[in-house]
Amino acid sequence: MSDSKVFIFDTTLRDGEQVPGCKLNTTEKTKLALLIEKLGVDIIEAGFPVSSPGDFISVREISGVIQDATVCGLARAVKNDIEVAGQALAHAKNSRIHTGIGTSDIHIRGKFNSNREDILQRAIQCVRWAKDLASEVEFYAEDAGRTDNEYLARVVEAVIDAGATIINIPDTTGYCLPYQYGEKVAYLMNNVPNIDKAIISCHCHDDLGLSTANSIAGLIAGARQVECTINGLGERAGNASLEEIVMIVKKHKHLGLFTEVRSEMLNELSQHVSDTMRMPVQPNKAIVGSNAFAHSSGIHQDGFLKEATTYEIIDPSEVGADSSKIILTARSGRSALAYRFRNLGIEVTRDQLDNLYEKFLQLADTCKEVYDRDLKVLARQYLQTFSY
Ligand code: KIV
Ligand code: ZN
Repeated sequence: MSDSKVFIFDTTLRDGEQVPGCKLNTTEKTKLALLIEKLGVDIIEAGFPVSSPGDFISVREISGVIQDATVCGLARAVKNDIEVAGQALAHAKNSRIHTGIGTSDIHIRGKFNSNREDILQRAIQCVRWAKDLASEVEFYAEDAGRTDNEYLARVVEAVIDAGATIINIPDTTGYCLPYQYGEKVAYLMNNVPNIDKAIISCHCHDDLGLSTANSIAGLIAGARQVECTINGLGERAGNASLEEIVMIVKKHKHLGLFTEVRSEMLNELSQHVSDTMRMPVQPNKAIVGSNAFAHSSGIHQDGFLKEATTYEIIDPSEVGADSSKIILTARSGRSALAYRFRNLGIEVTRDQLDNLYEKFLQLADTCKEVYDRDLKVLARQYLQTFSY
């Protein structure tokens, strides 16, 4: 297996679907799963089968239709959870049970009223239960971000010995700084003797807005799977956004990494997820927001119109977005105004442009944006040659 491939584990249908208001029925989940597979992700976390009869059915249906991607089901370190996940995944071509337990002292004491030794044994046990019920087992060390590294390394070594081949190191609370998360992954790469038998996965939450940066730090330190969601949906402030991870890996070739995601489908998927989950995408969202390729200040517009790469690091067609937009506001300059007139088939001389620009600014100061219809009115009023 190539060491430069980054496995994309999409958890839109599990962590993303946990968002208040985003719950989906089986038909909606199955349709999205098929689209997510077409996008080219490697693993689809389809749900948490024991959580409700509806989610069990969704994971079972998705298992029956997905051909290329691995279908994954979540289960706590509880025998019944794991058995139910195994049943839901039974018809998947490639199945994965994602099971685990909290490993930070805060979780061990606060949530389980337990101790490190007991949690270590429960971690081993859950992997043993899951091993024969799916093609592969992924273990998550919940709150790994706040887990003592030495203890985490002991747990990771033990669960790999028990049969887990993917080790998820979640920054469940989005607490880590990128260098800390990177150091944690590096620590495991260097201190877990059997780490070559597994791949490390990043699962970072966005409570401090660092989920993408932390995931990339994890990849640089040696992780080779990222758990992410379309539009960055997920518990609380969300998960790392799939579109950001994919485009960072694609744009920063010096990292020597690649994914198999078809980036030109990213905008389409973003829209589908937003519509199906009834969760609007913020306009300034990286890659898929409506302003991601919109230029509105005069300085930027002038540079962009001379040479697009001065202000764009991604060609919109690479991510399936509409072509770049030149927005007219009171901050726009003459070159943008001339460009928009030209797009309407209206050629203006330098003197005419100066005159129109003055009128344009008067109008722009009274509104948020100047549209084509406004430009036509300006042309009709101030250009004798123009009649529409
Ligand atoms: O954030 C988290 O720790 C999780 C686990 C269940 C993997 O979502
Ligand atoms: Zn999570």
